[in-house]
Amino acid sequence: MRVVRTIADLRALLRPLKGEGKRIGFVPTMGFLHEGHGALIRQSAARCDATVVSIFVNPTQFGPSEDLANYPRDLERDQNLCLEAGTTVLFLPEVAEIYPTGFQTHIEPGRLADPLCGRFRPGHFRGVATVVAKLFNMVQPDLAFFGQKDFQQTVVIRRMARDLNMPVDLVVVPTVREADGLALSSRNAYLGEDARRRALCLSQGLLAAKAAFDEGELDAARLLAIARGPLAGVDSLQYLELVDTQNLEALQGPVDRSAALCVAAYVGATRLIDNVLLVPAVSDAPGNGS
Ligand code: PAF
Repeated sequence: MRVVRTIADLRALLRPLKGEGKRIGFVPTMGFLHEGHGALIRQSAARCDATVVSIFVNPTQFGPSEDLANYPRDLERDQNLCLEAGTTVLFLPEVAEIYPTGFQTHIEPGRLADPLCGRFRPGHFRGVATVVAKLFNMVQPDLAFFGQKDFQQTVVIRRMARDLNMPVDLVVVPTVREADGLALSSRNAYLGEDARRRALCLSQGLLAAKAAFDEGELDAARLLAIARGPLAGVDSLQYLELVDTQNLEALQGPVDRSAALCVAAYVGATRLIDNVLLVPAVSDAPGNGS
């Protein structure tokens, strides 16, 4: 595994690989990696000839009162995970490399950035879209791998890549969970013992609703009520919503198309998000022709 810190070095390493027609996979991250990232890197390594992983804690996607300064970091552990999972090139840029003095051009995502997390994190997806567009331009990957846990992020980035004709295919990899159901997240590191126990109610609610859906419950209001039950354990619920996966509009009545049940809540001082997909047997999910 080669470690590079500048865009020039990154491009110099990738140029010959591209010249040979190698397929480049890309996994953008903010570090403090866990097995969820491991799954993305492994998928990329299995499907591509070379895998680039970036670790960059992107300041433009954090709000003024968010956890940028305290965002957890452990570069040595991250490097070991990257190596073990099959990374070819690890890109570790400094902030000035990505946002040099005078930087002033941003990607403005459209309506898909407004609901769900967008309501509570103004400007967040503008920062995400901007840095991902820049990283795509630096790496020029054939495939880019993102975790399902950041569901809205995957929808915003897919739209951006389509709208701006970026020649990259997005691969969304299912959320990796602890044995008890908690979705892996770098922010789980903030949870003390009591908060860790209470954080479980997010996945408990979602997975109970998914089980009911799989057993034939299609009514959006009843599915939301099932998911809401255990959420009494959180300190502050930001949203629990069942949305159409294509346009992120709230679903009412029967779930007759591919939907995502999404939650964001504070447990103690830690903001957690999670989601499950509810895909009807005959749906508008990509690939079944409707
Ligand atoms: O999902 C993340 O870790 C970040 O939002 C990303 C995609 C690396 C952009 O900073």
